[in-house]
Amino acid sequence: MNFLEERIQKDGIVKEGNVLKVDSFLNHQMDIRLLEQMGEEFKRRFADVQVDKILTIEASGIGIACIAARYFDVPVVFAKKTQSINLDGEMYVAEVESFTHKCKNQVIVSKKFLKEGEHVLLIDDFLANGCALQGLLSIVAQAGAITEGIGIAIEKGFQSGGRIIRNLGYRLESLAIVDAMDAETGTVTFREQ
Ligand code: G4P
Ligand code: NA
Ligand code: NA
Repeated sequence: MNFLEERIQKDGIVKEGNVLKVDSFLNHQMDIRLLEQMGEEFKRRFADVQVDKILTIEASGIGIACIAARYFDVPVVFAKKTQSINLDGEMYVAEVESFTHKCKNQVIVSKKFLKEGEHVLLIDDFLANGCALQGLLSIVAQAGAITEGIGIAIEKGFQSGGRIIRNLGYRLESLAIVDAMDAETGTVTFREQ
């Protein structure tokens, strides 16, 4: 097990409905030393890749992206979620459907902060169905920028997002892939990587 898998094993809580709570170190309270290890590991995995900018999505991707950005020495842009916006042409917009929350959101990024030809690394905390990530990919494409890779903290391997994104040909690195969870026993099973 790597450092993140060990931490999930130790402090993660398995809830009913295949939900993994990581509030005590990642999603609410944040263990900055752990985030530093994650940033270092993303840098190691994407060492051969040109990265001009990290793109993430509010809220819980931001902390991870910011610490990772220190290892890449690049700025972070976070996409904002809104329910409805006045389209003034200054924004890239993508529709994102949340299975968990059963709603549709718009994800927006100002055209000022993402430019044609920029090399982008996407970072997020969770990958489940991948809807949020698809929104970010759409925004990078709209900008004419290049998605060089995707770094995820925790991928839920039993949901479809990871498979879809890899099948599209993207380089996706997840620090921990959870293949199964059992709320009764609290067991988390990780995929061998
Ligand atoms: P998707 O983007 O992968 O399709 O995710 P989905 O709609 O299924 O999930 C909605 C939200 O729930 C996302 O956060 C996602 O990160 C988060 N999530 C999914 N599964 C888990 C889980 O097992 N544990 C935890 N802690 N979170 C999970 P969000 O609401 O869009 O963003 P944020 O504001 O929390 O960052
Ligand atoms: Na998130
Ligand atoms: Na979240």
